[in-house]
Amino acid sequence: MRRKLVIGNWKMNGSRDSINTLLSGITAGLATKSAQQADTAVCAPAPYLAQCQQLLTGTPVAWGSQDVSAYAAGAYTGEVAASMLNDFGCRYAIVGHSERRAYHGESNELVAQKALAAVNAGLTPVVCVGETLEQREAGQTNVIVCAQLQAVMDVLDTASLAKIVLAYEPVWAIGTGKTATPAMAQEVHAELRKQLASRSVEVAQGMQILYGGSMKPDNAKELMAQPDIDGGLIGGAALKPADFLGIIYAAD
Ligand code: G3P
Repeated sequence: MRRKLVIGNWKMNGSRDSINTLLSGITAGLATKSAQQADTAVCAPAPYLAQCQQLLTGTPVAWGSQDVSAYAAGAYTGEVAASMLNDFGCRYAIVGHSERRAYHGESNELVAQKALAAVNAGLTPVVCVGETLEQREAGQTNVIVCAQLQAVMDVLDTASLAKIVLAYEPVWAIGTGKTATPAMAQEVHAELRKQLASRSVEVAQGMQILYGGSMKPDNAKELMAQPDIDGGLIGGAALKPADFLGIIYAAD
């Protein structure tokens, strides 16, 4: 059985002080739970990864980055290499978030190279896929998300593919308060799992596929009750301890 996974994506939010408060709220909340079923992580802006390592080591909360370079090292100003993330104890690296695809022109191929760099360094890439509103209205949802996934499948061998986490984030649901209905999300998740099964049924069955897009404590349970939804990638609600904890509890 797949474990549930709840990851907070803080995006470009936070300060040294606010992160102290947020993480102590989350870890204090989790300490009151006896058996935690869901795996949990936060993906912080790069300058705060050392702080995450300091505050989260020894807690049930893992941490990771919001992006990673496709390159190992060298003259790539502004990039952060997977080995650097390892230096700060990261477990996860989000790749291909729709904000990076839209605002930084990241192609499916570049996202795939980033996923490969992460896996090669021993990190778990959280590969994001998702369609825009126009694409959904044009009936293109499955074609778009499957093409995004296929680019990653093209560069990862089966053993590497088994090491990724997938996240379905419909672009129109991100930060808008509009959530895909559980049925809409389930349909896409099932389609993604089917595509993974075309490579390996075992990999498909083991893959954690997260939903992201206005997930909140009050809709998380129903979304995560769907057979192919294995957790959440949380934006806004990950910035408040009570909301983030509410979603983690909904996963149990
Ligand atoms: O990666 C998380 C994300 O894009 C969802 O954001 O604010 O809609 O939960 P939000």
